Amino acid sequence: MSALVVVGVQWGDEGKGKIVHYLGRSADCIARYQGGNNAGHTVVFGGREFALHLIPSGILLPKKKCVIGNGVVVSPRAFFEEIRLLERRGVRIQGRLWLSRNAHVILPYHVYLDALREERGRGIGTTRKGIGPCYEDKVARLGIRVCDFLKPEVFRALVLQNLRVRRAELASTAVPLSKIRDEVFKDYPRLRRFMDPYAADTSRLLNEALDRKRRLLFESAQGAMLDLDYGTYPFVTSSNPVAGGVCTGSGIGPTRISRVLGVAKAYTTRVGLGPFPTELDGAVSHYIREKGHEYGTTTGRPRRIGWLDLVQLRQAIRVGGVTQLALTKLDTLAGIHPLKVCVAYRLRGRRIVDFPEGRRDQFDVEPVYETLSGFSGDLSRARRFMDLPLAARDYVAWIERRLRLPVAIVSVGRSEEKTILRRAVWPRRA
Ligand code: GDP
Ligand code: IMO
Ligand code: MG
Repeated sequence: MSALVVVGVQWGDEGKGKIVHYLGRSADCIARYQGGNNAGHTVVFGGREFALHLIPSGILLPKKKCVIGNGVVVSPRAFFEEIRLLERRGVRIQGRLWLSRNAHVILPYHVYLDALREERGRGIGTTRKGIGPCYEDKVARLGIRVCDFLKPEVFRALVLQNLRVRRAELASTAVPLSKIRDEVFKDYPRLRRFMDPYAADTSRLLNEALDRKRRLLFESAQGAMLDLDYGTYPFVTSSNPVAGGVCTGSGIGPTRISRVLGVAKAYTTRVGLGPFPTELDGAVSHYIREKGHEYGTTTGRPRRIGWLDLVQLRQAIRVGGVTQLALTKLDTLAGIHPLKVCVAYRLRGRRIVDFPEGRRDQFDVEPVYETLSGFSGDLSRARRFMDLPLAARDYVAWIERRLRLPVAIVSVGRSEEKTILRRAVWPRRA
């Protein structure tokens, strides 16, 4: 029995898609447990590139089973379109993908509400996919789940009730309520028929797979610093990417999780608004953005760039119970001399080593850096750790020492083969 969780330990876009696809080769089943189509996970292999949003990255591995757990919010239209797109590119999906009947559905009014909040001065730079408003409905006990969506009468009654509840707020969008209602029901029969064969009791499926000693891999969306509870609130997403989210978001118990692999870039990025203590502007950030193609996979927005931040990483490692790390994009740092890494913060003249909770403090902290030697050359050719320049190896070893955690994987390029495995990530098969 083994469940491995792959979780982002920064502000998302750490390279989870690549790592999940790489480790997924040794898994039996790959599952998502939170988030929705706000995610953008890039997988490059065999000369092809895929961007996954809602479907687990494991779907690109032909024999693997995939699950969308109850903690995910699912837009029926995005579900339909992503599957169709993948099928057009030759990915066979039927019979390999299951969607929890308890997952909540994102409907057009959630997307309108998301945009409205962004435009009305309370914006945090969301992806505008309706994620926050859908989770709000879930918590308010107004949500519509996949099992409700599949029953036409139940669905219709719930939609009409929810539109009544939301009428006042929706009245301030430029679109009349009747048009929003029509949008919700447009294509409903087709989307319902399409979704029906995928719907399942996924908690049972996952638990039975564990009973049969199968290997499960859980793929987080976003990252620990966007976590609703542990991130830079309120500049966060509306779910729990941290490993604890796996249990509530998929219906397996905490006793079944064996390991947690944290994915971190060799530097830091963030999209959207909110505090970012090590953020850079100027030549270094420009260099990294262009060399590392740091533009959002889902929205195309330029990502904000900063040095690696050990204060932030320590918090993510602690709240996620992270047991090992994958360090990605080391190749992107080549050519920058020297490198800096944040080891502490200074807040109103005091040195602190813990990530502060207060929103003001998170904006006010100033990073305290240590300077390390940079390295040069084309790292993407390295296949073993020893192939890397000495200063690059020192950078990785220094991070390991400071975080007291092994870096099991070093990633040096976008495509699958540009990956250095330094230690086993999966526990041995029993
Ligand atoms: P995710 O959301 O965590 O899956 O990450 P994204 O796919 O949104 O962003 C990561 C980007 O970095 C993608 O374009 C990946 O192809 C790319 N990438 C991942 N690992 C590496 C790496 O080691 N080196 C380089 N140069 N690019 C990488
Ligand atoms: P992956 O899985 C980076 C950010 C948004 C915004 C905040 C809330 O590819 O790492 P939301 O639409 O979720 O309500 O937006 O979270 N955000 C991400 N940033 N990568 C992601 O996903 C993100 N998903 C959401 O930019 O700041
Ligand atoms: Mg991404």
